[in-house]
Amino acid sequence: MKITKMAIGSVAALVGMTGLSFADPDEDSLTINGDISIVTETAAPAHAENLSTIYSGWRFRSDETQAFQMDDFDNPGMIGVENATVDWETVDGSAGKSCSSCHGTPEDMAGLRAEYPKWNEEKSQVTTLEMEVNNCRENRMGAEKWKYTGGKMTDMIALISSVSRGMPVNVAIDGPAKETWEQGKQLYYTRFGQLELSCANCHEDSYGMMIRADHLSQGQINGFPTYRLKNTKLNSVHARFKGCVRDTRAETFKPGSPEFVALQLYVASRGNGLSVEGPSVRN
Ligand code: HEC
Ligand code: HEC
Repeated sequence: MKITKMAIGSVAALVGMTGLSFADPDEDSLTINGDISIVTETAAPAHAENLSTIYSGWRFRSDETQAFQMDDFDNPGMIGVENATVDWETVDGSAGKSCSSCHGTPEDMAGLRAEYPKWNEEKSQVTTLEMEVNNCRENRMGAEKWKYTGGKMTDMIALISSVSRGMPVNVAIDGPAKETWEQGKQLYYTRFGQLELSCANCHEDSYGMMIRADHLSQGQINGFPTYRLKNTKLNSVHARFKGCVRDTRAETFKPGSPEFVALQLYVASRGNGLSVEGPSVRN
């Protein structure tokens, strides 16, 4: 792994300490409910040119945190999935429809989580699952949009993710999505804030470092939505991005903004080959 002195200096400055220690991701393997095997480590895709191996964030968590994700009865994120199962069937809006009126069962969404963000031909832009859900609510149901990072939305994304667990992340970065991907890549390497840190400084140059008790991962998003023990709720990708940008003491982009959509496509593509895990559990 390439570790730049400057990045370590900045990360150290952030956490107000001088000695950072390093620990490899652990060797544990993840099977959910004794049934769904999860790929948490694999060869990096060619377009993630500075990485040789990619790891799920699960591999950087403590045994106690990891255990929550091994069985749905212990996974607090599954409560969100259950709530969304009710919403799936609930008629809302002027058209008198529920998600199930048009989409059948949640299982019919299997595979989607692995491919999003994705180019939407009709909208002529890369869209996220959240954008698709709100497009259906607003334009097909005649219902109110859900808040982008709100509970209802994040629960629904957790439900849609849960039926793709174990499938390999496989977002397309070529064709019409290429420009957005390039924009996301540029953002990933941009130094933000007073600390002048890019995503790459922490999650590419310094993963494996311990920041206080936190074991720095590659910042992969295959596990989203993520139930965090810290804020005891499901967190969406853009909420996490916002937190990480804020930690560099920078003004952040808005959830749902074109910048975060582009960044999401790029970060997702760095995880092509890892399994969809959401809802995952992290600290
Ligand atoms: C009136 C019918 C209708 C309703 C109700 C509806 N949708 Fe859709 N939805 C569609 C159509 C049509 C598309 C376009 C792609 C397709 O044909 O599946 C779509 C697309 C989607 C997609 C992207 C699918 C893909 O293949 O990329 C998602 C995700 C989605 N809807 C979720 C929902 C959710 C969640 C709800 C309930 C909150 C909902 N939809 C309600 C008709 C509907
Ligand atoms: C100062 C270092 C730092 C910077 C800069 C930073 N992060 Fe993070 N990030 C962390 C820490 C610490 C965590 C929590 C431990 C972990 O999962 O790596 C984290 C967690 C994450 C996670 C959750 C991973 C998981 O498995 O749940 C994602 C995703 C993420 N960061 C993305 C980003 C993106 C995108 C950027 C750039 C906009 C960024 N981070 C910038 C320190 C940083």
